[in-house]
Amino acid sequence: MKPHHLNNVLFSRDKIGQRVDELIDEIAADCDTENLVLLGILRGSFIFLADLVRGFERHKLHPRIDFITLSSYGANTMSSGVVKIMHDTDADLEGAEVVIVDDILDSGRTLKFARDLFLERGADSVRTCVMLDKKTDRAVEMEADHVGFEVDDVFVVGYGLDYDNHYRELPYIAEVIFTEE
Ligand code: IMP
Ligand code: MG
Repeated sequence: MKPHHLNNVLFSRDKIGQRVDELIDEIAADCDTENLVLLGILRGSFIFLADLVRGFERHKLHPRIDFITLSSYGANTMSSGVVKIMHDTDADLEGAEVVIVDDILDSGRTLKFARDLFLERGADSVRTCVMLDKKTDRAVEMEADHVGFEVDDVFVVGYGLDYDNHYRELPYIAEVIFTEE
């Protein structure tokens, strides 16, 4: 890790909680299905997905939950450009209505890779939900169907988002400031 500190809580725990509640209602309004699968992209989505899914009961929705581990970053803060499957899901997606859950949409490569993969595996529909949408030039054409918040093109951590696999535990989202060596 490069020398850095955390600055600027961009989204507080309360603000995230309120937005997650709204997202649950948004997603539920779009899904009326027996064959719903929430597919989290690890590791960044684990907290977000856990918060989202606990709101589904109030809509009488009982989705299957599954995960896939994709990697494009390594120990760097710049995407490598190649998405790899580190651990695959064995969920049967034939005919499923899939909602992909991820922490952040940046270049778009990860989400596009996942969407194409699940469609190829027979999903009826694939929708996408991200906590953050980074306002940056996408490397590929990709927008999410459900977005928690938009964020400027800065590096952020917390609420599942990491810097070199640290800071995922923060209950808020903060900006990382890189300092001179
Ligand atoms: P994309 O493939 O470039 O859209 O990147 C998506 C993945 O990059 C996310 O799932 C995150 O794991 C990671 N990522 C992108 N921006 C950030 C950030 O600001 N902080 C932490 N992880 C990020
Ligand atoms: Mg990540």
